[in-house]
Amino acid sequence: MKRFLLLLLINLLTVYSQAQQLPLIPQASQCTIYEGTYNLPAVLTVSFPEEWQATLEMFKQDLKNRMDISVVFSSKNNALKIQKDASLASEAYELDIHKKGIILKASHVCGLNYALASLQQLLLNSKSLPLLTLKDSPRFSYRGVMVDCSRHFWSISELKQTIDEMSLFKLNRLHLHLTDNQGWRFEVKKYPEIAKKGSYYWDFPALSGKYYTQKQLKELVAYAQNRGIEIIPEIDMPGHMLSLFAAFPEITCLGGEYEAFPQERDGKLRKRTWQNMVCLGNPKTYEVLGDIIAELCDVFPSRYIHLGGDEVATMIWKDCPHCQELFEREHMHDLGELQDYFTRWAHAELAKHGRIMIGWDEINERKAAQDQDVVMIWHSDEETYQKALDRNLNIILSPGDPCYFDYSYAKNPTRKVYEWNPVNQAMGAQANLWTEYVCTQSDVEKMLYPRLCALAEVLWNSPEQKHWPDFYQRLHAFPFQQLGMNAWMEEKESDEWFDLSKAVKPVLPAGVHVETNIYNVKGYEPEYALDGNPATFFQNGWDTNPDEYFKVWYDVPQRLSKIKVICDLSKDYFQRAKLLISEDDSLYTEVGTSDDFGHFEVQLDGRQVKAFKIVPTFVRLSRLVIREIEIE
Ligand code: ACM
Ligand code: ZN
Repeated sequence: MKRFLLLLLINLLTVYSQAQQLPLIPQASQCTIYEGTYNLPAVLTVSFPEEWQATLEMFKQDLKNRMDISVVFSSKNNALKIQKDASLASEAYELDIHKKGIILKASHVCGLNYALASLQQLLLNSKSLPLLTLKDSPRFSYRGVMVDCSRHFWSISELKQTIDEMSLFKLNRLHLHLTDNQGWRFEVKKYPEIAKKGSYYWDFPALSGKYYTQKQLKELVAYAQNRGIEIIPEIDMPGHMLSLFAAFPEITCLGGEYEAFPQERDGKLRKRTWQNMVCLGNPKTYEVLGDIIAELCDVFPSRYIHLGGDEVATMIWKDCPHCQELFEREHMHDLGELQDYFTRWAHAELAKHGRIMIGWDEINERKAAQDQDVVMIWHSDEETYQKALDRNLNIILSPGDPCYFDYSYAKNPTRKVYEWNPVNQAMGAQANLWTEYVCTQSDVEKMLYPRLCALAEVLWNSPEQKHWPDFYQRLHAFPFQQLGMNAWMEEKESDEWFDLSKAVKPVLPAGVHVETNIYNVKGYEPEYALDGNPATFFQNGWDTNPDEYFKVWYDVPQRLSKIKVICDLSKDYFQRAKLLISEDDSLYTEVGTSDDFGHFEVQLDGRQVKAFKIVPTFVRLSRLVIREIEIE
C-alpha cells in the first residue's frame, strides 16, 4: 500500500511538473508527456464531425495566417482526427499526440475550440510536437471580457479580431456594453431614430453615425459561437442613458433637448450621467424600454442579458412629479427604492423572453436582485460580493482591482491580475475594458494583453497550479508580435504592485511640499510621487486639463540639477506637458516639455528653485499616473 501511495505521489508530481513545461496559456490542467516527438506533415490532413465544419474552417484559416501551415479536410489517412465524445463535459477536451498523429476529443463546440487553441499554441512554439496525453477543463465557467462600444466604437471586424484573440486563450464570454451616455450603438428597428440620433455628434462628424445593425450583430453572434464564445449584450438602464434621450426626450424626467456626446468633446462641455434620467412615473418609458429589450433578445440568443443598473442618478427622480407619484403609491421611503422597482420590472421583462438578467452590483445594493439574477461585481470590496453570495445569488466578478483593464499597467499590472484569486462561489470573472480613454484597436490590444492572459489562467487553472515565475516565462515566450498583437511587455518579473489599501501616505522631508488641483484621486495622493518609490504613484480618475497643475515647493529655495518625471508609460502619462520653475513662487519660467511618449527629464544645472509646476498643454484622452518625480 505504501509503495502504491508513493508511486501515486510520484505520478502526480510528474503530471504536475510536466504540465508546467508545456508552452500553453492557460496551462493545461492535466498532462503527461512522453519521450519523442510528432513532426507535423507539410500538409495537415484533418477529419471531423460535420457539425463542426464552421469551426474547422476558422482553424484552417488560423493555421494558414498565423503559421503558414496548410490544412486539408479528409476522411481518411488523417494526421488530426477530431472525435465527438459525449462523455466529456461541454468545456472539457482531450488531446492525444502520439507517434502517428493527433486525436482530439470534445463533446461540444466549446471544448473543441479549447483543444484547437491548445494545438495552435503548441504549433506556434514548434512544428515538432511533444508526445502527450492532455485532459483539460476550466476551473470557472464564465471567463469573460467586456468591451465598451459606446465611449468609442469598434467595427465588426475589430470585434472579430478581439474574438479571435480571446479564443486563443480559451475565454468564453464577450460582454458588449452597447449603450451609454456617449453613444447608442444598437439598431432598434421599431425606433430607427434611436441609433441615428444616439450616435450623432454635430462637432465630430468623423465619429458620427457609428452603430451596429441587427444583421451585423447576428452575424457576429454566429461568428463568436463558432469560436466557442457567447456574446452577452448590455443596454445600460435606467442610468447612463443620455444618448437615448436624443431621440426620446419625452421619457425623461426633465425633458428638454438631449444629445449623445463624444468623449472627444472638451471635458467641461460634456453632459454628465446625473443631468437627466428616464422617468419611472411615465408609462411610455416602460413601453419604449420593453420594445428595446424585445429586439435585444431577438438579436442575441444568450441565456443572460445585461441590463446595467450602475450609477443611477436617483436624485433626479426626487423633483419629478410623476416619479414622486409612483414613490407615494408604492409607499417608498428611499429614492433607491425607485431603482429597485425598475430592477424588478427589468427582471420580469427579460423573463417574458425566457432570459436571465445580469446587472451591475447596484441592483443588489438594497437587495432588489431576485432568484436567478446575476450580480456583476464591479466594486472592489469584499462586502459587495458577499452580500450577493449571502442571498444565494450568482455573481460574476469584475472588481476595479484588478479587473478594470482601462486602467494603466501601473494600477492593474499583470502580476496583480495573476496573483488574484476569485472566490470559488463565483460563476467566474471578466476583464472590463471601458473605453473613455481607449481610442484605437491597437490600444484595445495593449490594454488587454498580456494581462488578459493572466486572467485567463486565473480562471482556467486551480490556485495551486499557479506559479508566477513559470507564467512570466511562458508569457514572454508567447509570440504576440508574430501574431500582430500589440501587447505591453515592459513589466519585469520582479515588479511589485501598489496596494493602496495597505499603504501609508508618505511624509515628505521637512520643508518640501506638494500641491495639486488635479482632482478625483481617490486616495492616490500626490505625496506618493515624491516618496522615492516608483511602485507607488499619484493617479487621477479623469483626463487632465491645462488649468490643472502639479506643484512642488520648498520653504528654502534649492539648487537643482535635474527634474525627472516618471509616469505610467503604458498609457497614463503626461504628453507635451510643460515644466515651469520659479525662484520666488511668483514668476514662473518654462524650462522643458515632455515628449509625445511621456518622457520628461529636464537639466537645470544648479538653478535656484523655490517651486516648480508641471502643467498639461492640452486635454488628452487619458488619466494621469505619476509614479515618481526624481529631483537632484
Ligand atoms: C461601472 O464601472 N460603473 C460599472
Ligand atoms: Zn420622472
